[in-house]
Amino acid sequence: MIRSVILGSGSALPGAAVTNAQLAERVDTSDAWIVERTGIRQRHLAGENDTTSSLATTAAQRALAAAGVDAAAIDLIVLATATPDQTFPATATMVQNNLGCNGGIAFDVAAVCSGFLYALGTADSMLRTGMARRALVIGAETFSRILDWEDRTTCVLFGDGAGAIVLEAQDGAGNDRGVITTKLHADGAHNELLYVDGGPSTTGTVGKLRMRGPEVFRHAVVNLASVLKETLASSGHTADDIDWVVPHQANSRILDATARKLGLPAEKIIVTVDQHANTSAASVPLAFDTAMRDGRIKQSDLVMFEAMGGGFTWGASLVRI
Ligand code: COA
Repeated sequence: MIRSVILGSGSALPGAAVTNAQLAERVDTSDAWIVERTGIRQRHLAGENDTTSSLATTAAQRALAAAGVDAAAIDLIVLATATPDQTFPATATMVQNNLGCNGGIAFDVAAVCSGFLYALGTADSMLRTGMARRALVIGAETFSRILDWEDRTTCVLFGDGAGAIVLEAQDGAGNDRGVITTKLHADGAHNELLYVDGGPSTTGTVGKLRMRGPEVFRHAVVNLASVLKETLASSGHTADDIDWVVPHQANSRILDATARKLGLPAEKIIVTVDQHANTSAASVPLAFDTAMRDGRIKQSDLVMFEAMGGGFTWGASLVRI
């Protein structure tokens, strides 16, 4: 049986951190409000020369270095983003060209904040069916470009960044390292709760993010608890078996509420929302890379990735590191 094993991870953040206090100089908000409602303390915002592809390329290079894999060995790039450099071609093809590994498969997936889970599930399926041997799975965003900086209910919540992992198809006999199971869902009935009010085939513009935060919050807790239970049940594991949960970093209150529903202790949840805010598709791999590099997540740990985003889309993936 072939398994998709994580060989290494990397991440990238643009520029210096922008604190809540700095944001409050140009937006009608306060550090106290943002921290109390979201747990966010700072975020990184893309500078003039930063793009989704430049952040993704840096994260990919760091992941390749951590994995000890040469870019030439990569034959699949799946990049999750809602903020591509251009409407087309796919940002993944730009990363491929920057890395100098042209010729393999490269494409983007659009599932907003669940994008990394969708990309991971897609890459894992392709590796297990033999379409490719070594993949880069990337989540990268420059959400600051689609924020309405006049809308304080949304602009304080998001940040920019990228995270990447290298996956390799390995013979799974003798150990259970690699992706064990991934569960993905979508429910297109809730477009009006979280969307961008523009696009190539409608307005011909890029548009700005619109969100009804409290409604999204309620759906997030229900959907995440449900997919986490489904993923555990399908793999035959219990919440007690999990060493670490690496959740989408939207709001610390969503993380707390989901953990409580599953009976997971707070010490097992990797939290970076205070440092990065919500970086959409980048948030799960950014949080994962943070915990890999500071030594919390180690080889053979059982890790649950989970995310929920616009669409709605949501998913979870159980992985033995
Ligand atoms: N600074 C100060 N005050 C703000 C503010 C800001 N940045 N944004 C909103 N407010 C005010 C509102 O105007 C409102 O004031 P009012 O009561 O006088 O009308 C008050 O704060 C409460 O607003 P509300 O929207 O009810 O707050 P909330 O406790 O629901 O928190 C969110 C708002 C957005 C933080 C919260 O709903 C949330 O995190 N939702 C999930 C969003 C999310 O994670 N989305 C991504 C999923 S991928």
